[in-house]
Amino acid sequence: MTDLDQMQQELSAAIAAAPGLDALDAVRVRALGKQGQVTALLKSLGGMTPDERQTAGPRIHALREGVTAALADRKAALEAAALEAQLASETLDLTLPAPAAPMGSVHPVSQVMDELAEIFADLGFSVATGPEIEDDWHNFTALNIPESHPARAMHDTFYFPDDAARDGRRMLLRTHTSPVQIRTMTSQPPPIRIIAPGRTYRSDSDATHTPMFHQVEGLVIDRGIHLGHLKWTLETFVKAYFERDDIVLRMRPSYFPFTEPSAEVDVGYTLDKGRRVVGGAEPDGWMEILGSGMVHPNVIAACGLDPDEWQGFAFGCGIDRLAMLKYGMDDLRAFFDGDLRWLRHYGFAALDVPTLSGGVGA
Ligand code: PHE
Repeated sequence: MTDLDQMQQELSAAIAAAPGLDALDAVRVRALGKQGQVTALLKSLGGMTPDERQTAGPRIHALREGVTAALADRKAALEAAALEAQLASETLDLTLPAPAAPMGSVHPVSQVMDELAEIFADLGFSVATGPEIEDDWHNFTALNIPESHPARAMHDTFYFPDDAARDGRRMLLRTHTSPVQIRTMTSQPPPIRIIAPGRTYRSDSDATHTPMFHQVEGLVIDRGIHLGHLKWTLETFVKAYFERDDIVLRMRPSYFPFTEPSAEVDVGYTLDKGRRVVGGAEPDGWMEILGSGMVHPNVIAACGLDPDEWQGFAFGCGIDRLAMLKYGMDDLRAFFDGDLRWLRHYGFAALDVPTLSGGVGA
């Protein structure tokens, strides 16, 4: 039955040559569909004599099975190839490269705090902290500012409602970092050498005041401490911070309830094309940068220490202002606006850790 062999060969060739699933299905319809060649042969069995059918039947069925199997094989091969192609075209590279430059930056306030920690660590000071939500004993009373003292009114304090009081103490947002003096003296024995940078709050807002601002407190408690130690420490600090030796400080007598005597400290500036630059052996003028003094005996006693045995000095300094003087910003409010352009301009690279040897601001 050469007709059947020929049909088998033709169909096998067409199946093998089918370039895709659609073409293969067309071959299937041509062979096995209702009007298909193989279907027609199967139908022809009905018109045969039993003898003819006995010889033709198995061959026609074998043809149908062979074609069916070849179609299935080719279909599986075409589907595997299609999946392969899809996988190759849809690969997703999850290993995206990092951006060329790091996106974030260190805020100038954080930078200055790091610089201060570095400078004072070199002088043997450690960093202390205290809560921003304080009670009026730590913020005022223990600092020699009793209830009726006018300094309480001067501080524009944010108070919490009366029912927030704890142990009979009114709660407030600390108005300065000086309560950390108290917390340190009541929690560790002298000698003490600490700085305490952090957030402080006063109800005040203009180009040079924001309701939240930053201070750094300094405290030394030891035997035989005098004003000379304070002056040397401040000079060493300010020279290291501004990274120049021709810095002149001026101590003006002042008043703080928690120090006696008290001094406000001005730094000399020189004019460069009308701009004030900190430093210069012969200053053109003075800018106030911090408050300081010898710790008042009442404060030492309030912390349970004997003022005849222990003396010390303290200072408090606005960090935001220190940053403005060194890095040239002129509006304090922009510090806390979160404007990306400002942060990109004034921010510091995250890996540039200040070191004394590298120049703390480098
Ligand atoms: N606490 C004072 C202020 O906020 C600054 C200061 C601290 C003064 C320590 C003297 C000693 O103005």
